[in-house]
Amino acid sequence: MPPVLETERLLLRPLELADADQVQRLFPQWEIVQYLNAVVPWPYPEDGALSYFRDRALPAMARGDEWHWTLRRKQNPAQVIGAIGLIRGEHDNRGFWLAPDWQRRGLMTEAVIAVNDYCFDVLGFPVLRAPKPSRTKPRAVSPRKPACA
Ligand SMILES: CC(C)(COP(=O)(O)OP(=O)(O)OC[C@H]1O[C@@H](n2cnc3c(N)ncnc32)[C@H](O)[C@@H]1OP(=O)(O)O)[C@@H](O)C(=O)NCCC(=O)NCCS
Repeated sequence: MPPVLETERLLLRPLELADADQVQRLFPQWEIVQYLNAVVPWPYPEDGALSYFRDRALPAMARGDEWHWTLRRKQNPAQVIGAIGLIRGEHDNRGFWLAPDWQRRGLMTEAVIAVNDYCFDVLGFPVLRAPKPSRTKPRAVSPRKPACA
């Protein structure tokens, strides 16, 4: 399991199954999901966070293939406001999202710096591939569903 990471304003806590409830309430917003890899289901299932944590993320962390953290403000460590993760492999080694209320304050920049340092200095990744999401070319909406949740 990865350690707790700390930045000026944030605590990055290793993902736990107990975080699933908060993430389920926060994450399924098209404003967030539209920029993510299409592997994230949309519409987001009611047990989406729990099943992803239990069946994918936590086993991958236990194998040493992935490292995920929830983001919390030091001022309110009980509240999850986003997440960031590293994935071993040839593509897409890093992913992150932040709740809309907390965006545009430089918080993810802080988290990314801490996680990049962990990636290179502790895990010893030789390279980190991080495709850039774009406002001008967001993920296509499922033809079955409207753009908004
Ligand atoms: C991308 C995201 C994590 C940025 O978080 P944030 O805390 O608002 O980012 P910061 O305030 O640290 O800003 C970092 C830089 O990214 C830019 N930025 C932030 N959101 C952006 C967006 N949606 N599109 C383009 N640029 C963006 C900021 O302008 C800033 O650039 P600057 O330093 O040149 O001003 C947040 O917008 C988010 O969760 N978006 C939805 C999910 C997503 O896109 N995840 C990334 C896919 S891997």
